Amino acid sequence: MKIRNLKHHVNWENAWKEMRQERMKKPKVSYDDEFFKKSAKDFSERIKLNNYEFGRKTTEILDEVIDDNFEVLEIGTGPGTLTIPLAKKVKKITGIEFAERNIKNLKSNLKEQNLSNVEIVNKKWEKIEDNEIKEKLDLVICSHFLWQIKDVDSLLKRMENASKRYCSIIQPCGRDETVKEIFEKISNQSYTGQFEPDADYFAYVILREWGRLVNVKYFDYTFERNMEEQVRNIASFIGRFYEVDAVLEKRIKNYLLEVSEDGIYREENQAAVLWWQPEK
Ligand SMILES: C[S@@+](CC[C@H](N)C(=O)[O-])C[C@H]1O[C@@H](n2cnc3c(N)ncnc32)[C@H](O)[C@@H]1O
Repeated sequence: MKIRNLKHHVNWENAWKEMRQERMKKPKVSYDDEFFKKSAKDFSERIKLNNYEFGRKTTEILDEVIDDNFEVLEIGTGPGTLTIPLAKKVKKITGIEFAERNIKNLKSNLKEQNLSNVEIVNKKWEKIEDNEIKEKLDLVICSHFLWQIKDVDSLLKRMENASKRYCSIIQPCGRDETVKEIFEKISNQSYTGQFEPDADYFAYVILREWGRLVNVKYFDYTFERNMEEQVRNIASFIGRFYEVDAVLEKRIKNYLLEVSEDGIYREENQAAVLWWQPEK
């Protein structure tokens, strides 16, 4: 693999480490024993909105490069946000996912859509042997996954190793305003990106330093949640800083009552799709 040897390197390593220390904390939530199970179900239901809008719009952008003979490796499938629309356009997807709850929901979503071209590998991405996948895939892709990984440059190198044609990364650009406002009210401090998902710019910097020509396109998407789902969504962020017990849950609910007239919470956001050809 060809990587440029640059005299002036952007020091992204410390920023990445600090960002992950803050964002990767497991939320402390004690108001509901079934919180994590219900959150995984919410996730699965939310992505189906507007017929898998998030994944569908991603694949519409990638139509520029994919065809129906493509064999794809997807890292961190979740319940199938991207997997389901992509599986309708390519020959086969191998999906790596370690969370059993998400796999259960993915299997049920694949069944619901009559899709049988997705092989699910219940493993951590880090446990996949590089030799097993070397230059085997037409596309290696991950959606909303980047910041889950400690060594982001190793992730990118390993994605390139596995691909014989394209690699791609999808990340939402920014977070829902309601979540930020509630964080500010509860913490009495300004929101300064404590739980932003837009880690894609790290990938962009690294790849450009390597000399890759990265394509970037953006799309708009919407998620809708009812009150209970929105409380869980907010608790999953606030819980990284403050334990969400029954008292805090009530406060979150009260804030939410003020901001929605119909009990539906709409998140309008954008996501970035990056894709590039690895150099061998
Ligand atoms: C934020 S979710 C995104 C899911 C989906 N790709 C999407 O776009 O909505 C990240 C997913 O990656 C999975 N994941 C996190 N770290 C992983 C790892 N090291 N190996 C495999 N899967 C992982 C999580 O279980 C979760 O399902």
